[in-house]
Amino acid sequence: MDQLVEIRDLVKEFYGRGLLARKRGAFKAVDRVSFDIRKNTIFGLVGESGCGKTTVSRALLYLDPPTSGQVLFDGATIGELSGKALRGYRRRMQIVFQDPNSALNPKMKIGSSLEEGLINLGVSKPQRLKRVEEMLELVGITPSHQDRYPHEFSGGQKQRIVVARALTMQPDFLVLDEPVSNLDVSIQAQIINLLLDLKERLSLTYLFISHDLNLVAYISDRIAVMYRGRIVELGSTEQIMERPVHPYTLKLFSASPSLHGTLQGSDKAQEGQAAEESTGGCPYAAQCDRRDSDCLEQEPELRDIGEGHLVACIHDKQHNPA
Ligand SMILES: Nc1ncnc2c1ncn2[C@@H]1O[C@H](COP(=O)(O)OP(=O)(O)OP(=O)(O)O)[C@@H](O)[C@H]1O
Ligand SMILES: [Mg+2]
Repeated sequence: MDQLVEIRDLVKEFYGRGLLARKRGAFKAVDRVSFDIRKNTIFGLVGESGCGKTTVSRALLYLDPPTSGQVLFDGATIGELSGKALRGYRRRMQIVFQDPNSALNPKMKIGSSLEEGLINLGVSKPQRLKRVEEMLELVGITPSHQDRYPHEFSGGQKQRIVVARALTMQPDFLVLDEPVSNLDVSIQAQIINLLLDLKERLSLTYLFISHDLNLVAYISDRIAVMYRGRIVELGSTEQIMERPVHPYTLKLFSASPSLHGTLQGSDKAQEGQAAEESTGGCPYAAQCDRRDSDCLEQEPELRDIGEGHLVACIHDKQHNPA
């Protein structure tokens, strides 16, 4: 089978705290999100802070199960699995978070941190040590440094160690949630190149999450643009880069650092704060410079404007006559 990950109509609702929030009811942090990730490819998920990227990834991995919708991993419906079968699939799906400092236990030697997951899997001590050494080597950390503590490493090295720890589980799929945005600009390119190299060497599949569209475009084969819990545009990197249609995608381009500085960071946009209650029209209308009266009434569906390029804008044809 070609697709490693398929998500269908994923919804994640949260209830706010307090009486007022409860009266308002649930708020959809993720609203009917669907996409597929082919084996050995990188799928990029991009959008402003608070648009729901992390929530999608946590629901996808069943770390925080979706309110509704389906996740298929290598053909199996994750929500229907339990016990040993679920653990087996979980091992194959690993996540690397933004901040390597909170990901590593400061009181634990890094070698022990890397061994932890393997102990849970019942891997023998000699096998564990071998795997830990191999993985450290693979990410460019001297294996004999496994007796050191996290604070003895730089930020970039710590992120390498976190990647190595995910790899000890021999996953097929990695979620990379803003894996370089906490690192110095000079280190970001090294980590991105390491991730690209590991993907080839180990035949991995990635979900790469970032608020920086140019960085996502640099690394990904396909891209989904999220706005307030929904996908507003999805296509191949070529389609998104060369023929972006949704006004929000265009705005992200202008917010992202220069195209040629693809590996440079950007300040995190804070304005995508999630999903107020929908008023029935296009959720982006209030910010859109192409808005007309129809936009305030019709809620645009995500539709195919040609060759699998999906756009949720009622004015899609205007910009793409094909
Ligand atoms: N456990 C939770 N309970 C309530 N609300 C939550 C919870 N987790 C996330 N949210 C809300 O859901 C929305 C989406 O959050 P999420 O963390 O997925 O965004 P994000 O796109 O990953 O943002 P960032 O780029 O800042 O990481 C936000 O409004 C957030 O406040
Ligand atoms: Mg996030």
